[in-house]
Formats: sequence, C-alpha cells, structure tokens
Amino acid sequence: MTNTINETLPTPAALARRVASWMTDLACARQDRFAIALSGGSTPRLLYQTLAAEPYLDRFPWQRVHWFWGDERFVAHSDPDSNYRMTAEAMLSLVPVLHAQIHPIPTVGITAEEAADTYQSELRAFYGADFLNPTHNLFDIVLLGLGEDGHTASLFPGSPVLEERNRWTAATDKGGQTRITLTYPALESCANAAFLVSGTSKREILARVRKGDENLPAARFQPMGDLHFFTDSDAAGCAG
Ligand code: 6PG
Repeated sequence: MTNTINETLPTPAALARRVASWMTDLACARQDRFAIALSGGSTPRLLYQTLAAEPYLDRFPWQRVHWFWGDERFVAHSDPDSNYRMTAEAMLSLVPVLHAQIHPIPTVGITAEEAADTYQSELRAFYGADFLNPTHNLFDIVLLGLGEDGHTASLFPGSPVLEERNRWTAATDKGGQTRITLTYPALESCANAAFLVSGTSKREILARVRKGDENLPAARFQPMGDLHFFTDSDAAGCAG
C-alpha cells in the first residue's frame, strides 16, 4: 500500500523552494550515489532553476547524484521540445556535475525503438541487474508532472504502454509525436516519487487523480516508496 503525502504551497515559487529543499535533504541524508529521474513540462523548470541557485547550489551534493529522465520527446537534444535541453539550460549546465552523471535519453542516429532499448540497457547497467528487485530501488527520487488529460511521464490514457510490466522503457506516439518513456515498473522502482502540480488548469484532473480514477495513468502509478503530491494552491483549489 503506497504511503501518500500531500503538501500544498501558496505559489509556484514556494512550491519550487519546498521541493528543492526536500530533494536536498533526501540526497544529503545518503552517503553514496543517488539517482533522480526528472520530468519535463513547464512546472519543474522553476524547481531546476531554484536548485541551481543559492542556497541549494552550495548545499546539494552534486558530486554523488545521477540524473535520468522519465520521458523524452524523440527530437534532437538542441530542439526546444527536448526535456534534456530544458533541464540542461535551467540546471545541469550551471552546477558541478560530470558528464558521467548525466544520463539523457538518446534521440539521434537511431530509431525510437533502438533508443528505448539503449536507455533500458543504460538503466540496467546503472542498477546492476536486468530485473527489478522490490528490495532495491532503481531511483531514489522520481519527479513526475501531471497532464490535463491525466498523463504522467509519456504514459497517456489508452496507450498500450500502460500494460507493459516487463520492459523498463518504451517508444510511444502522442499526437503524431514520438516519445520515449519509462514504463510503470521502472518509474515505480523508487524510494520517493513526487508529482509537481501547479496552476488552475490542473485543478480538476488533480482532484480526479487523488480520488484514484483508474482511467488516468497518473492515478495508476504506485511507487514502491512514498508518493508525494507537491501542489500550489491554484492546483489544489485551496489556500496553501
Ligand atoms: C513532458 C512530460 C509530461 C509533463 C506533464 C506536465 O511534457 O515532458 O511528458 O508528463 O510532465 O505534461 O507538464 P506541465 O508541467 O508543463 O504542465
């Protein structure tokens, strides 16, 4: 049974500071390497910018953290739609991390299926096994967004990828755009998962996810560890 923790902050900036602080505390509490899966979308950009600035720039244990992505559009890393590009611009190009700590989803010179296979191999090599063990999580933190249709990562309503329980990654199409996504079993293999949800446009879908509407991919996500909902008061529909 997933342990769910809800926190509502008054503004998007307060939300970004709270999540930056939460991530920093979790990473500092561990002595060895720490793995984070990042989300794309507009909400986390402010979080990434916040982490890359003081006081987090100095406090966060950048040398021990490995960065992965929960999903990616199948475009060049220089493309404005690239989640890697957004994260690099907002955070990773501004902080003391080595190339070997950054694990972008490959998108160039291969097919989408090959990209999914390559990323699955990279995740398995990092994890040290080809099968997920419930006593050993792939990620320490998985950050997730929530789309207005209830999607998270690139797990969209009605997609066959929602039924995938063996593969860790998959290629998927949404509105004519190819994406690579981690599957439920890979995303769920984490000590902490956090949805970051901001803005009135998310209020209705957030309420449905919290009620556990099984038609929504975000509501079907059941991490091994704790599930946090970090929301601003516009999304939560109440004063923060
Ligand atoms: C992406 C992610 C997607 C995103 C949500 C929320 O767009 O890269 O696939 O899951 O996190 O759509 O996006 P916003 O934060 O922009 O609302």
